[in-house]
Amino acid sequence: MNPSQMSPSSAALAERAYRVMTPNYRPAPLAFARGEGPWLWTVDGQRYLDFAAGIAVCALGHGHAELAEAIGEQARALLHVSNLWMTEPGVALHERLVALSFADRVYFGNSGAEANEAALKIARRYMRLVRGEDRFEFIATTHSFHGRTWAAISATGQPKYHKGFDPLVPGFHHVPYGDLAAVEAKISDKTCAIFVEPLQGEGGIIVPPAGYLAGLRALCDQHGLLLIFDEVQTGVGRTGRWFAYEHEGVAPDIMTLAKGLGGGVPIGAMLCTEEVSKGFEPGAHASTFGGNPLASRAALTVLQVIERDDLCARAETLGARLRAGLAALGREIDGCLEARGLGLLCGLQVDTTKIDRAAVKDAAQARGLLVTLAGEDVIRFSPPLIIGEAHVDQALAILRESLLAVKKEAA
Ligand SMILES: Cc1ncc(COP(=O)(O)O)c(C=O)c1O
Repeated sequence: MNPSQMSPSSAALAERAYRVMTPNYRPAPLAFARGEGPWLWTVDGQRYLDFAAGIAVCALGHGHAELAEAIGEQARALLHVSNLWMTEPGVALHERLVALSFADRVYFGNSGAEANEAALKIARRYMRLVRGEDRFEFIATTHSFHGRTWAAISATGQPKYHKGFDPLVPGFHHVPYGDLAAVEAKISDKTCAIFVEPLQGEGGIIVPPAGYLAGLRALCDQHGLLLIFDEVQTGVGRTGRWFAYEHEGVAPDIMTLAKGLGGGVPIGAMLCTEEVSKGFEPGAHASTFGGNPLASRAALTVLQVIERDDLCARAETLGARLRAGLAALGREIDGCLEARGLGLLCGLQVDTTKIDRAAVKDAAQARGLLVTLAGEDVIRFSPPLIIGEAHVDQALAILRESLLAVKKEAA
């Protein structure tokens, strides 16, 4: 069946969905029923190559046998008990993340926004209650994205996410991403922490200039500030390293994770040093579901498979292949600008006066390829980390066809 024709079952489901969903969501009229590896099938059996991976979530792809088995086994054994008690998978996941990263201690929530909420809260509390300093301001960056809780939108440097929600949480300053001098100029005796993504995802796959993260670390050390990296999108192998900060060898004081960590099972994490962890004493912060045995077992399995199958290295190699292909499209097709990213978090920037990127996304979808948009002018590619060369080449071929079709239509 030609995927460009909307299937009757998907259309019927869309009609039902649009009646009952709050209008913040308006999903494409495409309903998926199952997946395998990088492939998804709709309720009507149409197949799609998934270069969205649930927005950089499904690190192991879909229907991964070991992940499914671990989740099933854990569900039969124990789903949840609360953080009033312990479980083996829960403790083991704390230990695993400590072993993999700069961190000494870990807190679990259920999403990226919650992980960031915990990061911001522990940073403020640490400054006030441990250091005894009235430092409560955060320096964040323009074009950033940190999630949708009130503190997370306040940290997010994109006004479109603030509209109608003000007054925002006070104490957030935004400076241009990649600009160390701008950060330095904003530091005052009220500054608590610098809060950035080591590569901006939603903002448009923006890789900071070399030395930026090291420069932020130096500023923090010089002024006694905390450095917080939001690795919700970049963490867990996505950029070709376990964590993106490893590219520059610059460790933060606090880091947040979510998306890829559970491979599709919701989980968020806030990791910090022993010193910063003193900002939370018993009862200071909590989450009912955070780190429950189901989510922890899923995350442990994801981490185990990434390590065993060397998926960080695969992300690096295949990411380079994807970017080389995107750059080649840029040389061939007028209006394609920069191909950029790290590992398998890639973007193709287009000149929006020449190429309608939403139309390209739709054209790709009609040809069986799922991609997402990021920033104002970028088409984003965040496939599962388990893909092979053939999938990259196939995606590039569909993208090329889609770009040419959209350009022809516009001409
Ligand atoms: C860097 C970053 N931080 C935070 C979030 C928010 O995560 P969640 O939607 O799980 O709350 C996202 C989501 O896209 C993100 O990319």
